[in-house]
Amino acid sequence: MVTVYLVVTIILYISFVHADDGWFWHVTDFHYDPTYLDVALSCNRNASERGEFGHSWCDSPWKLVTSSIDAMREKEPNVDFIIWTGDSTPHIKDNVASHDMYRDIVRNITRELKSKFNSTPVYPVFGNHDYYPAHQFPPNNNLMYNEIYEGWKDWINDDGQKTNFQKGAYYTVKISKGLRIMSLNTNLYYRSDKISRLYRYSDPADQFQWMAETLEHAKNNSERVIIMSHVPPGVIATEKATWMYPQFNHRFNEIILEYSDIIAGLYFGHEHIDNFRISYKSGSPVLVHLCAPSVTPWTYIPGGQGDGEPTRNPGIRLVRYDRLTGQPQDVRQYHLDFKLSNVNKVANWTLEYSMLADYQMKDLTPISFHDLLERMKSNGSAEFTDYAMRRFVGGASNDRRVTHCSSQACKKPFICSIGNVELAEFEFCDSDGTSRNPAFG
Ligand SMILES: *[C@@H]1O[C@H](CO)[C@@H](O)[C@H](O)[C@H]1NC(C)=O
Ligand SMILES: *[C@@H]1O[C@H](CO)[C@@H](O)[C@H](O)[C@H]1NC(C)=O
Ligand SMILES: *[C@@H]1O[C@H](CO)[C@@H](O)[C@H](O)[C@H]1NC(C)=O
Ligand SMILES: *[C@@H]1O[C@H](CO)[C@@H](O)[C@H](O)[C@H]1NC(C)=O
Ligand SMILES: *[C@@H]1O[C@H](CO)[C@@H](O)[C@H](O)[C@H]1NC(C)=O
Ligand SMILES: [Zn+2]
Ligand SMILES: [Zn+2]
Repeated sequence: MVTVYLVVTIILYISFVHADDGWFWHVTDFHYDPTYLDVALSCNRNASERGEFGHSWCDSPWKLVTSSIDAMREKEPNVDFIIWTGDSTPHIKDNVASHDMYRDIVRNITRELKSKFNSTPVYPVFGNHDYYPAHQFPPNNNLMYNEIYEGWKDWINDDGQKTNFQKGAYYTVKISKGLRIMSLNTNLYYRSDKISRLYRYSDPADQFQWMAETLEHAKNNSERVIIMSHVPPGVIATEKATWMYPQFNHRFNEIILEYSDIIAGLYFGHEHIDNFRISYKSGSPVLVHLCAPSVTPWTYIPGGQGDGEPTRNPGIRLVRYDRLTGQPQDVRQYHLDFKLSNVNKVANWTLEYSMLADYQMKDLTPISFHDLLERMKSNGSAEFTDYAMRRFVGGASNDRRVTHCSSQACKKPFICSIGNVELAEFEFCDSDGTSRNPAFG
């Protein structure tokens, strides 16, 4: 009898766990250009006919920013929280920008999110463009951290985090029993940093030390942690380089691997494309890094491609997750066909795909992503074609120009960058996408 009760209790518990799903939005890289309607400083090609919802060669008009936030509220207003992974300011030269301009852009988007989502907390983080001059994040207190903290402190809602934020723009928030958000300023590790030469530091703003201690503390308290930041660790497939200085990339990977058993997910922006990576520990997949597409349709292709305008449709991402464990259960990616919206003069945000259904995954665990990667490796893989389409042209679900990348040679760097987050692994990666570097598991 006792056994029967126990079994029934366990079954009830398991079904309860699966029933307790919540939602959150992941929005990133608004890159709002306040000059879009006049001099349009962000446009990197002739863009004389700019529609109200955006242009391929330009950053976002304000109308696209508000349209994306309105769409989030319409598609799913009942989210537990929103993660906003930075880069709100335009791609423009420092000599036409200013501290006040960047601060006001971040403040205005903050105000828009607050007014459209009232009581829903937003967990924000800076992107590399959100400091003036761009990319030069100081590893210590400054006016930008202080001014932006004033707008974000209601969301962070913990005075104890003020010193961390003012020192290095990082913080942690306990969002429910047993679940914590850790928001990291990985702009401190970004290779484009030029002024402050942060690579000379072993631990800019003591963030790594704090990160490891906070994870250790969470582990001691049986908490699980959702990590979010702007610049992701890992290799840029097309450049054979990491986004971060190599020693920072390595340290970041080391820490997340050490605490992989309590990390419930990693969410990044910066790449503007729909991407994911997998971390392995002793050969087993243990972590998934999810990189969300940008709101801005801005496209920069060095040297141009002479192939007509590329299309990178603005995206917003809805994540279903388990409220007890933080584990993502599905990702629903929405996009705006902004060219059509410009013609129709009305925005029509549509569901682009759901990860579970489209990639035929049974769940979003690291093992299932590893299985997806294996399927992507095979010759003629439909999964790779879908991935490549999203990665190269954002949400342009009818844009099949990317099918030129179907040879194993073309696929190799993309496949290798998904499963090899260190440059030294990536360089050893062979054509089946398996690392042969004995230095890594
Ligand atoms: C820019 O493109 C428009 C048409 O899209 C054309 O009329 C105009 O001459 C172009 N300007 C330059 C400077 O190339
Ligand atoms: C921010 O909003 C204020 C108030 O609406 C407006 O005056 C200002 O021009 C906006 N700044 C930017 C950069 O959009
Ligand atoms: C975690 O627990 C260990 C073992 O009890 C203890 O030595 C350590 O100081 C704790 N660390 C933190 C950050 O709480
Ligand atoms: C919006 O787009 C969807 C999918 O492309 C389409 O089925 C629907 O008719 C569109 N709605 C409007 C109002 O254009
Ligand atoms: C992949 O498939 C194409 C056509 O389906 C074929 O020409 C090619 O030889 C195949 N490559 C490999 C490595 O099997
Ligand atoms: Zn960006
Ligand atoms: Zn960025």
